[in-house]
Amino acid sequence: MRICNRTEVFMAQQTTQIAVRADAGVIQTMLEEINRFNATPEEGTTRILFTEQELASRVYIKEKMRELELDVTEDAAGNIFGTLPGTEPALAPVWTGSHIDTVPNAGMFDGMAGIVSGLEALRLIRESGIRPRRNISVIVYLSEEPTRFGLSCLGSRMMAGCLSEEETKQLKDAKGNSLWEMLKKTGHDVTKLGEVRRKKGEVAAAVELHIEQNNVLDQNKIPVGIVRGICAPTIFTVHITGKQSHAGGTPMGERKDAYAAASELTLAAERFAKASTGEYLTATVGRVEVFPNAVNVISGDVKMSVDIRSIDMESKEEFITKLKNEAEAISARRGVEITFHTENHDTPLRCDARLISLLREKSAELEIPAMELISGAYHDSLFVGRFAPVGMIFVPSKNGISHSKEEWTEFSDLALGTDVLAHTLLALANE
Ligand code: GLV
Ligand code: MN
Ligand code: MN
Repeated sequence: MRICNRTEVFMAQQTTQIAVRADAGVIQTMLEEINRFNATPEEGTTRILFTEQELASRVYIKEKMRELELDVTEDAAGNIFGTLPGTEPALAPVWTGSHIDTVPNAGMFDGMAGIVSGLEALRLIRESGIRPRRNISVIVYLSEEPTRFGLSCLGSRMMAGCLSEEETKQLKDAKGNSLWEMLKKTGHDVTKLGEVRRKKGEVAAAVELHIEQNNVLDQNKIPVGIVRGICAPTIFTVHITGKQSHAGGTPMGERKDAYAAASELTLAAERFAKASTGEYLTATVGRVEVFPNAVNVISGDVKMSVDIRSIDMESKEEFITKLKNEAEAISARRGVEITFHTENHDTPLRCDARLISLLREKSAELEIPAMELISGAYHDSLFVGRFAPVGMIFVPSKNGISHSKEEWTEFSDLALGTDVLAHTLLALANE
C-alpha cells in the first residue's frame, strides 16, 4: 500500500469536486471486453441468465469492481454490489447500476451501459480523491430481461418484495428448471432469499443510466435524457383453441381457424393502442406459436404473447378491458376459445421529482444539453422505485433502435451521461 504524505492526505480530505471527466475510451474498452461474453458473436449479443456467457460476465464485472477497490458482495438473489465506502457507512447508501443479461441477438449497450457508466462514475470520484459521506454502490441486478424465465427484473423485483421465495420455485425456464434451483446451482444461499427484500428508507436514492431505446434524443440531437416516468408492462399469454382440419377439404364457412382469430386479435390490439388517449401506450404481439404449423393444415391452436406498456395504469386497464371484450366477440364470431393468462401486471412509476431537478441542475452545471422524456421500456428502476427515490439518465440510441444487433450509442454520449451520473451520485452521497 502506498503511504500518502501529509499534504496529500490534507488535499484528499479537502477535495469535494470531481476533477476529471468521464473517459469515452475507458467506457468503450469495458463494453467491448464484456461483449466477448456472447453466444452469438456474428449476430449481435446474446447473454442469457446463468449461461456460460452470463456467468463469465459476472466474474469479469467483479474483477473490474475489485480493480477499483470497491467492496464486492452478492446477495442470495444473485444481485452483485460493488461499493465505494463512504465516511459514514451507517447512512443509507446511494445506488446506481443496471443489468448484464440481454435478449437474444441484442446490442452491447442495453443494461451494460448502466453498469459501465456506474463503474466509470466511481472511478472519477475516487481519482478526484473524494470520500463521500454515504456508501455508493454499483449494482448488477439479476436478469432484467424476461428471456429465460418469462418474467422481467428478477433481482430488483425480489428486492421490492414483488417475487417471493415460493414464486422463485414456481418460475420455470423452458427446460423446467426453477429460478430457485438455478440460484442454488450457481452457488447462491437460497435459505437467505428472504433477506434480499429492501425496506423503504434503506436506500437514500438510486440513479440508473440506460440507453434510451427510442429516438427522441437522437432526433433532437440531445445527449442526455432525464426520465420523468417508466412505463410498466402487462404481459399475457393468450391461448386460442380452434379446430385443426384440412386446408383444402374444409370450406371457408366451416372453419375454426385459431391463427386467423389470433391475427384478428393482434390487429385489434394495434388499433386500440393507436387510439389510446393516454400519454404513452404500446401493445406488441412478439411471440406466436402456431400448431401444428404446417402449410396445408388449418391451425387448431395458437399461443401468443401480448405485451402492453403504459405510463399510467388507468389507460392500461382501459386497453385491457377493450382487448378482452374484443376477444369475446372474436370467440363468439369464430367459434374459437380464447383464454388470457397473466404473466405479470406491473405498475408504472413516476421518477422522484427532487432527483429530476437534481439531474437537471447537474446537466446545466456541466453544460450538457438535457431534456425530459418518458421511458417506454421498463428498467430495474421500476422496482427499485418501490422502496427508494429513483432517477434515470438516458443516452441516445441511434435511430431509436434497441433489442437488435443494430443497437448503437456513441461512446462520447455515454461519457457525457456518465459525467451527469457521477456528479449526481456524489451530490446525493454527500447529503
Ligand atoms: C426491457 O428490456 C424491456 O422490454 O423494456
Ligand atoms: Mn432490454
Ligand atoms: Mn435494459
